[in-house]
Amino acid sequence: MDKLTIRDIKISGQRVLVRVDFNVPMDEKKGVITDDSRIRATLPTIKYLIRRKAKVILISHLGRPGGKAVSELRMAPVAQRLSQILGQQVGVATDCIGPEVEKSVESLKGGHVILLQNLRFHPDEETGSAAFAQALARLGDIFVNDAFGASHRSHASIVKINEYLPAVAGLLLEKEVDTLGSLLKNPARPFGGLFGGAKVSDKVGTLQNIMGKVDFLLVGGGMAATFLKAKSYEVGLSLIESDKVDTASGLIEKATGNGVHLLLPVDVVVADEINTEAQGKVVSVESISPKQRIVDIGTQTIANFSRELRKCKTVFWNGPMGIYEKPQFAAGTRAMAELLAGLEATTIIGGGSTAEIVTSMGLADKMGFVSTGGGASLEFLGGQSLPGVEALLDKSALTSGTLKGLIASK
Ligand code: 3PG
Repeated sequence: MDKLTIRDIKISGQRVLVRVDFNVPMDEKKGVITDDSRIRATLPTIKYLIRRKAKVILISHLGRPGGKAVSELRMAPVAQRLSQILGQQVGVATDCIGPEVEKSVESLKGGHVILLQNLRFHPDEETGSAAFAQALARLGDIFVNDAFGASHRSHASIVKINEYLPAVAGLLLEKEVDTLGSLLKNPARPFGGLFGGAKVSDKVGTLQNIMGKVDFLLVGGGMAATFLKAKSYEVGLSLIESDKVDTASGLIEKATGNGVHLLLPVDVVVADEINTEAQGKVVSVESISPKQRIVDIGTQTIANFSRELRKCKTVFWNGPMGIYEKPQFAAGTRAMAELLAGLEATTIIGGGSTAEIVTSMGLADKMGFVSTGGGASLEFLGGQSLPGVEALLDKSALTSGTLKGLIASK
C-alpha cells in the first residue's frame, strides 16, 4: 500500500484517534453482539498502540440511527466485548465530541483505551461536516483509519478529519487493501469468482471489473435468476431485477469475449413459499414452473461449481447461494463454504453476510482471508478508489518534510 501506516510514525505517548468499524451484527432486542469478528480484526492495531503507550481513542458508528441517539445502538456492549477480548478495561464515553468527552480523553493514561459514543448519533457525521470533524480532531494528535468496512463512505470521521490531523492507516486497513489489491493485480491462476446474494445491481461494478482477471465466474443465489432470465429461462416467482436483465446479458457476452468460463446453475431448489415449513425440491432450470421461486442452487450445480473451484489457486466469494437464513435452503451456501475451507488455494471471503456465514459455520480460520468490508470490498474490487483510503497520507510524506518530528525512527 502506498499510504503511511502506524508503523511509519511516532506513536509513543500520543493521543491516537482510531476510526474503527465496530458496526457489528447485534441482536438489538437483547443487546447482544452476534458476531464480533470486526472487533477482533482491529486487535493488531489496538495492541500495537497499547504496547507503545499511546492513549487510544476509538471512534465508530453502529447501525443506522439516522442522526439521533438510539438506545439500542449505544456502544456499551461493544466496549464490553472489546474489554473481554483485549483483557483490559475499555471505557465508553457518553458522546463522541464536546467538553465532557475532552475531559475523559484528557484523563486517559498511556496504554489505556476509550471507546466514544456512536458517531452516527450526530447527523453531521454522515453529511461530512467540517465542524464535526474538527471537534473530533481536537481529541487526538494523530488520526488512524482502521475502518476498512466504512472507507467507501465520505463521512466526517472518514474523509474530513484528515484535514485537521496527520492521517495514517491502521494494520487492518493495510491488510485489507493489500489482500484485496492482490486479487486485482496478480492473483495465482486459475482464479475463480463465486458470486451470489440477492441483487445483480449490488455487484455489477465488481463483476465488470473482475471479468478481465478471473478464469471462472460462478453465479448462484438470488442474482442467478436474473442471469437465467437473460438466457430466456422461466424463473417463476423468483425475485428478478427486470431492469438488470440486459446488464446480465451484457455480462454473459463479456465473459465469452474475455474467455471467462461462466457457470450458471443447471438445477435449482424451488419452493412455492418461503417460510419455516416450506420444503424445496430440486428441478432442472428448464423445469421451473411459473408458481415456484428459486431458493437455492441444486445438487448438480453444487457438483459443477465444486469441480471448477477445485481447479482454482485463488477464489473470491461474495454472496450466499440461496436463502441461507432458512436451514432447508442453506445447503448450497454451506456446501460452498465447506468446499472453500478445504481448498489448497488462496480463498478470500467478501465481508457482510458471506463473512457472517463462514464465521457462524466455524470456518473463518480455514479461509485465507475474511474481509471486514461488505460494500467497501465490492467497491474496491469494482476498481473504485475508496475515499477513506485516498484521504490518508502517501508514503511520499516521509521524505517531503511535512511530517517533521512525527516520523518513527527505524
Ligand atoms: C458496513 O457494515 O458495511 C459498514 O459498517 C458501513 O455501514 P453502512 O452501510 O451503514 O454505511
